Amino acid sequence: MRTGWIGLGIMGYPMATNLLRAGFEVAVYSRTPAKMAALEKMGAVAAASPSEVARFGEVTITMLPDAPDEELVLFGASGVVEGASAGHVVIDMATISPEATRAFAARLAERGIEMLDAPVSGGEAGAKAATLVIMVGGKREIFDRCLPVFKALGKTVVFMGPHGCGQMTKLCNQVAGVLTLQSVAEALLLARAGGLEPHKVLQVLSAGSADSWNLRNQGPKMLARDFAPGFFVRLQQKDLRIVAETAAQLGVPLPATALVRELFRVVEAHGGGDLGVQALVTALEKMAGRTVA
Ligand SMILES: NC(=O)c1ccc[n+]([C@@H]2O[C@H](COP(=O)([O-])OP(=O)(O)OC[C@H]3O[C@@H](n4cnc5c(N)ncnc54)[C@H](OP(=O)(O)O)[C@@H]3O)[C@@H](O)[C@H]2O)c1
Repeated sequence: MRTGWIGLGIMGYPMATNLLRAGFEVAVYSRTPAKMAALEKMGAVAAASPSEVARFGEVTITMLPDAPDEELVLFGASGVVEGASAGHVVIDMATISPEATRAFAARLAERGIEMLDAPVSGGEAGAKAATLVIMVGGKREIFDRCLPVFKALGKTVVFMGPHGCGQMTKLCNQVAGVLTLQSVAEALLLARAGGLEPHKVLQVLSAGSADSWNLRNQGPKMLARDFAPGFFVRLQQKDLRIVAETAAQLGVPLPATALVRELFRVVEAHGGGDLGVQALVTALEKMAGRTVA
């Protein structure tokens, strides 16, 4: 299957690499030529614009930060719609709002172009190892047609329902995810203040009912003061903004999630927007006047 890829960041670059490894023909577009050059060495075709990517294949995958970027790449100058013919499929794997997704799908449908929302969970490590969880919204028959693409990128692929259902599922994932991240930071702070050896606490908690992905993956990074980004604080805040807007529209109170959003605001206020989300612990440390390490 001939595919195109736009958005070669922390997630998009390794995901596009996995498509190439799985034997897909892939055209790529990035505003950063060096990223395209590296993928060309693996067999990718470098395209001059999003429209050229769309002209190359049957499917165009986007992995951009947010809806305004998606709008620009799809409908802007030399955008995907200029190169895509009827029946082309756009798969958006970024996290954007369900509302924006439905609006994009409707605008693409006016031109005979199909769309799937297919956000992912599993982080940079899951992107590299092709073990992502992929939650998909759109038409079932388009999902079935694109399944080989998803299988090259992830280990769990679930069709969730019509347009926007993939993004809605991702918002639920982000709520559960930030709350476990917050719980890890608080537990480590208490452990240190209580005179415990925090690595041992991580070992014990991960073997019992308090285990979580964040405990195992982000806990050690918090202790090591490793705040290198796998997932930027500023993108997490983008997700929590979408969560807050969507929950408000639906009339659902999410008090704990709102609190974590405020704590991430503290991290941002201290210049931490480009740190990884494990830097959440630094906001609690400022409140406590002590560190977990
Ligand atoms: N990181 C994670 O752990 C993770 C996990 C799950 C989901 N996500 C979601 O996945 C999406 C991407 O995240 P990421 O961490 O990969 O972000 P990222 O590293 O910032 O990558 C985004 C890429 O989009 C490209 N881009 C932005 N605007 C563009 C435009 N107008 N035209 C063409 N390319 C454009 C940029 O490439 P250039 O070099 O060309 O500028 C950038 O490298 C986000 O929605 C995020 O919320 C991330």
